[in-house]
Amino acid sequence: MVALGDVDPLLGNVCATGIVEFDRALGGGLVPGSVTLVGGEPGIGKSTLLLQVASALSRASRTVVICSAEESAEQIGRRAFRLGVDTGQITLCTTSSLPEVLRVAEASRPDLLVVDSIQTFGDPEVVGAPGSVSQVRECAAQLIGFAKRSGVAIVLIGHVTKEGSLAGPRLLEHLVDTVCSFEGDRHHALRVLSVMKHRFGASGELGVFEMTADGLKGVADPSALFLADRQPGIAGSIVVPILEGHRALLIELQTLVTPTVFGTPRRSAEGVASGRLALILAVLEQRVGLFAAALDVFASAVGGVHIQEPGADLALGLALASAVTGVPIDPLTVACGEVGLAGEVRQVVHTERRLQEATRRGFRRAIVPVTSPRAPEGMELIPVATLLEAVQHLGLVGVVRPFELG
Ligand code: TYD
Ligand code: MG
Repeated sequence: MVALGDVDPLLGNVCATGIVEFDRALGGGLVPGSVTLVGGEPGIGKSTLLLQVASALSRASRTVVICSAEESAEQIGRRAFRLGVDTGQITLCTTSSLPEVLRVAEASRPDLLVVDSIQTFGDPEVVGAPGSVSQVRECAAQLIGFAKRSGVAIVLIGHVTKEGSLAGPRLLEHLVDTVCSFEGDRHHALRVLSVMKHRFGASGELGVFEMTADGLKGVADPSALFLADRQPGIAGSIVVPILEGHRALLIELQTLVTPTVFGTPRRSAEGVASGRLALILAVLEQRVGLFAAALDVFASAVGGVHIQEPGADLALGLALASAVTGVPIDPLTVACGEVGLAGEVRQVVHTERRLQEATRRGFRRAIVPVTSPRAPEGMELIPVATLLEAVQHLGLVGVVRPFELG
């Protein structure tokens, strides 16, 4: 037992690793004695990320032990050489034995211990093969115990599949201090580290990287990257300022409609929640009078980003209206707001921050809910009460395309 006032608050001090986007996602860096789970699909770049974090720590004369049961010392060594890793303070331990990991970590007490991956380690005293529920849970429990006893920060790497998870990460989410997910499209260079649970700070923070031939590079201005290949003047597209953690990001929303050839119309949503797409289509039909029932509808958030918040509703509705009518939206216009079932446009959090980011990137007009705060200088606000009003303002009505007649 301890009086709350006697607890040393400095024990929770954050140590910056020097990898700016990693530190940003974690609210400053790694906390000594904390356990962080980094989950992601195989091949997304988890081992590379942690090798670069290890390198940055080593450069700052801090010690790191990397335990890997996935790759040989030669493989890791070759990658480290290619990435120009500062290896001075990094010790490698290629084993799949958890007792061995604990022995090495106990003897060296590094600043950071990386376990790659938690599904590949096993304790011979525990039943089951590595990766089984009992092994994953027991190995994690022992490592967490060690972290708390020793003050060593631990990062556990965990593989998840596209569908959700293998025995592993999900199982550990409530045990560890911090849960991050490293995501991206393997065919795109963009990688996003997002924090889902964080005992030492705000969750919902985000680090953005680009996978290059020389490893992961932090992206300080993600909006520029997301908007880089945009083609202005195409119907069905609009830019929306979304909020990820504390950062406003500008993302292009693209939609495309085409007549359904046979059977049920197709609804395809990439980076946009499919439930949200269905809702907006229903509102467009019932409250705006734009029908997509005989159309295949494709909606996508460009750049491999997953939009999780309702703030993009209005933009999605306008993009769809633009796709259906074939009328392009002015390329310097953004929209943000939630759309309700009555077709009303509602306020979303931190509109000001979103509009600032849009202004910074050269956008000139913003379609917003009527209750929005004042506009930043250089930005004209167009307040709307309903989706219909927004659609009318942009002139996304009255054009009938041939396939709508059939
Ligand atoms: P890796 O870190 O091994 O992924 P994970 O640990 O999540 O399974 O990274 C795998 C991919 O990253 C690999 O397919 C190649 C790519 N990559 C690069 O494009 N550039 C690089 O500098 C490195 C090291 C990897
Ligand atoms: Mg790996």
